[in-house]
Amino acid sequence: MSSDSSSLQSTAVINEAVQSLREGRLVAFPTETVYGLGADAKNPEAIKKVFLAKGRPADHPLIIHVAAPDKFDQAQVGWVPVLSPWVRDISEDALKLMNAFWPGPLTLVFRKDKSVPLEATGGQETVAIRAPAHPLTQELLRKFKGGIVGPSANRFGKVSPTSAADVRSEFEGMLDLMVLDGGDCQVGIESTIVDLSSSDHPTLLRPGIITPGEILEKTGIKIFLPGEIIPAEGGVDIPRVSGSLRAHYAPTTPLRLYAPGRVLDALSEFPDIKSRVAVAVWDSDSALGEDGHPSVHFEEVLVPSDSVGFAGKLYRTLRDLDQQGWDLILLPEPPPGEEWDGVRDRLQRACFGSGPSSSNHANS
Ligand code: TXA
Ligand code: MG
Repeated sequence: MSSDSSSLQSTAVINEAVQSLREGRLVAFPTETVYGLGADAKNPEAIKKVFLAKGRPADHPLIIHVAAPDKFDQAQVGWVPVLSPWVRDISEDALKLMNAFWPGPLTLVFRKDKSVPLEATGGQETVAIRAPAHPLTQELLRKFKGGIVGPSANRFGKVSPTSAADVRSEFEGMLDLMVLDGGDCQVGIESTIVDLSSSDHPTLLRPGIITPGEILEKTGIKIFLPGEIIPAEGGVDIPRVSGSLRAHYAPTTPLRLYAPGRVLDALSEFPDIKSRVAVAVWDSDSALGEDGHPSVHFEEVLVPSDSVGFAGKLYRTLRDLDQQGWDLILLPEPPPGEEWDGVRDRLQRACFGSGPSSSNHANS
């Protein structure tokens, strides 16, 4: 996102987007994480268009994006009036989390208000809400005066878009889509998702740039990892977080991770590869330092060696490399530490779903 992004868009463009949403059409919007494919969260027919455009199964719930409280509106001084049209109850923990991290890259899952269409929640009685920080989208939300459902604006299973051009190329020739251009996304990976709906314990459903450690430090709230608590009895086996499926965020070029200094090991899985291997290398390391391989041409690409910088470039790098016609892409394994969990999660799924058949088995 560029700092003057909202000034790049004239009021007229935002008004046109508001009008489109009101008429049940889709509008792609920028956020600090990735671009979203937006529709009016109270319009079931519009929501169905989102699932159709993405090729996403109807039981995968969407996030509803809401406007931050308007400082100039006396009736809207806190998060409670923003949330109350959507959720059944707002706990003390929820208030602390919103005050600490909203607007920003944190999504919270609540028990839903009965007025929220089941089309938006994939048939579930819970609802995911987030107030994105991007100024352009905040302006859109304030003018729209409603919630906007917004999955990442990519085809199901593919790499999430971090620029307006990425969104256009995802839906080229398929969909006449209005795309609000807010520049490049800065966070670069999707929001952290915390479930506040199901038990006394807030649970991490998707790692992101906001880590459990940061949440504990800023709010005193301990976030449990999914394995740490026993799931409720009789729980139905439906995908609650689509990114939790094994194949996701996948390029069509085969992608693998390599352990420090083990590029050739990663290559041994692909005996037929003759040339054209792109190898990403930490920018803190001067060079690959490999002994080389008689018949393979390696091309080095530098990637940031800090977790925030790497996340910011991850999808951009995957998309760019995917379009350059490499036979194989190798990325360095992220180091240990929870600040890398969001990146590690995306990379593992991207590897699993990658390759020419990714459109067949990728599933989110
Ligand atoms: O950063 C983001 O969160 C981006 C931007 C556009 O806001 N959006 C995004 O949406 O990543 P999507 O649909 O690609 O991923 C949303 C995730 C899905 O994996 C979905 O399963 C989960 O949120 N989710 C939505 N509602 C849920 C619910 N009620 N319970 C559990 N998970 C839910
Ligand atoms: Mg997505």
